[in-house]
Amino acid sequence: MSTQAQPTGSRPSRSGSTTSGRTGPGRTGPDPVSGPTTEILRLTDVGKSYGNVHALRGVSLTVRQGEITCVLGDNGAGKSTLIKIIAGLHQHSEGVVMVNGEEIHFSSPRESLDRGIATVYQDLALAPLMSVWRNFFMGAEIRRGLLRSLDVSAMKRIAGEELLRMGIDIPDMDRPVGGLSGGQRQCIAIARAVYFGAKVLILDEPTAALGVKQSGVVLKYVARARDAGLGVVFITHNPHHAYLVGNHFVILNRGLVSLDASRSEVGLEQLTNEMAGGSELEALGHELGSALSEVEADPDGEKALRVS
Ligand SMILES: Nc1ncnc2c1ncn2[C@@H]1O[C@H](COP(=O)(O)OP(=O)(O)OP(=O)(O)O)[C@@H](O)[C@H]1O
Ligand SMILES: [Mg+2]
Repeated sequence: MSTQAQPTGSRPSRSGSTTSGRTGPGRTGPDPVSGPTTEILRLTDVGKSYGNVHALRGVSLTVRQGEITCVLGDNGAGKSTLIKIIAGLHQHSEGVVMVNGEEIHFSSPRESLDRGIATVYQDLALAPLMSVWRNFFMGAEIRRGLLRSLDVSAMKRIAGEELLRMGIDIPDMDRPVGGLSGGQRQCIAIARAVYFGAKVLILDEPTAALGVKQSGVVLKYVARARDAGLGVVFITHNPHHAYLVGNHFVILNRGLVSLDASRSEVGLEQLTNEMAGGSELEALGHELGSALSEVEADPDGEKALRVS
């Protein structure tokens, strides 16, 4: 799996030597005045149609600083459409999107980035042949001197420090990203978004292609991004992963919100049940049950095979 998160437009101006220590220039943190639950992003009754297809209808969602909002849903539920609207790739056809209390209509991903919204796409590549430090600073390289040459040593040092701060120890910053595990690549993309001052981090199914252990590692970094004060939107199919880290849960079902609950209002079992379509699953269970009893009653399948 590969990932990409672009540096946000609010990335720090720096001289190359100002980034060590605990207060990196891109560091965000819970607002000490208004507390950790400041609202950053709010969608109200958002809809999106592709021709005759209503991919989203009446979707309302709030993302707060220092919280993880999980968006769950089955294939075709509208998760990617939702991300694309927030990331500025697509425009919503109905409703209101507000960032920091201001209504916006993004017409490009750059505009979303400039508002501090960083998106880590599941299937967009970090450059696999390029080194860790180059990937970390891609599009936001540090330059120095009159010739504006690349300050390679500063970039290596900062990338190393920032990754280590997230608990990712990669001793060789020259190592090509392609040689790292999917989980490590995902973590680099998250660390990069945190460093470059993202306020909102959108993660599109970051654990979908990972095994149990690596999923755990990625979830740990998702939690760290939250603890650094970002508002995280975590898209996933997996209610177990969502429940391990989530503060708030939104389930999309065929473009509609079918559940919107905070952690105190919903347990893992209910989340799993709702996610699976609750009554639909029950009906399927009955159908499968009666199909099975028919098979049991006619083990040789004579009835089913008999052509009259
Ligand atoms: N560019 C498009 N043109 C037409 N229809 C689209 C387009 N993008 C998405 N859709 C439709 O919108 C609906 C929602 O799709 P979306 O990709 O947002 O779902 P999803 O929840 O991300 O699904 P998955 O889990 O499979 O990624 C689907 O019916 C899909 O076919
Ligand atoms: Mg999708």
